Amino acid sequence: MSEGDLYGLIGEDGFQRLVAAFYRQVPRDEILGAMYPADDLEGAEQRLRDFLIFRFGGPSRYLEQRGHPRLRMRHFPFPITQGARDRWIQLMTAAIAEAGLPPEVAGTLGAFFDGTATFLINRE
Ligand code: HEM
Repeated sequence: MSEGDLYGLIGEDGFQRLVAAFYRQVPRDEILGAMYPADDLEGAEQRLRDFLIFRFGGPSRYLEQRGHPRLRMRHFPFPITQGARDRWIQLMTAAIAEAGLPPEVAGTLGAFFDGTATFLINRE
């Protein structure tokens, strides 16, 4: 399966379920909870959802609204240590399971998140 096929397989609905399951865990997380904007979690949810939809072959709403992702730069304000990275992956792994995505989709997304999250580490 190529990354560009992923949107065709799970659609808006699949990404919606995935990202909602991720953000449902964020507020009560002792590492990530404080990093995300408590008064705009809905907006944060929409930004991640639209980014993933764009990245995996769907409509490019993210680009239109936010411009080039430049993820490392956009994450620089947040202290992403190895521990924060591992926690993010832990929550996302739980979200992938909760969203009930097909195994090949879960595998492709998991590998993408793993690599991208490591790339975003920006503090010792
Ligand atoms: C490694 C651990 C990570 C931490 C601690 C983290 C934390 C954050 C925080 C606090 C925000 C701001 C929320 C907001 O949009 O208002 C954010 C935004 C965002 N994150 Fe992450 N993130 C991590 C990994 C990732 C990964 C792996 C991806 C890509 C799959 C990602 C994609 C995004 C996107 C697209 C935004 C919105 C950027 C924008 O348009 O402003 N993040 N992240």
